[in-house]
Amino acid sequence: MRLYVNVDHVATLREARGGREPDPVRAAVAAEAGGADGITVHLREDRRHIQDADVRALAQRRGTTLNLELAAHPEIVRLARRLAPHQATLVPERRRELTTEGGLALRPGSRRVQTAVARLRDAGIRVSLFIDPDRATVDRAVALAVPAIELHTGRYATAPSGSRRQAAALAALRRAAAHARRAGLAVHAGHGLNYENVQAVAAIAAIEELNIGHSIVSHAVFWGMEESVRHMRHLMDAARRRAV
Ligand code: PXP
Repeated sequence: MRLYVNVDHVATLREARGGREPDPVRAAVAAEAGGADGITVHLREDRRHIQDADVRALAQRRGTTLNLELAAHPEIVRLARRLAPHQATLVPERRRELTTEGGLALRPGSRRVQTAVARLRDAGIRVSLFIDPDRATVDRAVALAVPAIELHTGRYATAPSGSRRQAAALAALRRAAAHARRAGLAVHAGHGLNYENVQAVAAIAAIEELNIGHSIVSHAVFWGMEESVRHMRHLMDAARRRAV
């Protein structure tokens, strides 16, 4: 199972002072040393954390596999085509949200996502869609002929630990992941995963990649980035081994 580490919040800290540190590229190097398979950044329209220059540096860095999150907005899609990351994950984006709140709606007949998918694919970029874990939305992703989806784990992550709500959210993730896998999609997952809740998701066989940011960056303040990633990796790998 691959671990992609989201370093947006390293840039959030930098932007708080408008200077040059901490540097998200340096965080990426440390995350890779701790066992990250790739680095994720979200280039938001308002550029509140990650900047164009960060994406350029990460996309050009040898040894970094970059997953760029972006909204299906023509200006950002144009930029993504130029920067050519390994993978682009289309996400919904609202200006005032604190973080990505839900998955892409993928309304039938909506041209916006369809156009963005086609333009990214034409540039040779692997495209993934960030969606809620339900069957109908997975089917709409299949219809868009993308190779991958990322299931939104927010509902699972925010439910009280051990609650019925959490068990139901986990079951929905399992069902959606298996359904997507049967349809031939690569299945990723992320949002709100942390050191306490990651293992149940890591144990879902159909999921091959996790995207984790806030919790790892938060722990890095105390443990350092490399150690924080190593610990997350260890939890994921242990859950995976137990599940097989
Ligand atoms: N996946 C997607 C598509 C996201 O938008 C985010 C948040 O930027 C994450 C994963 C990571 O979420 P978190 O920071 O809560 O780990």
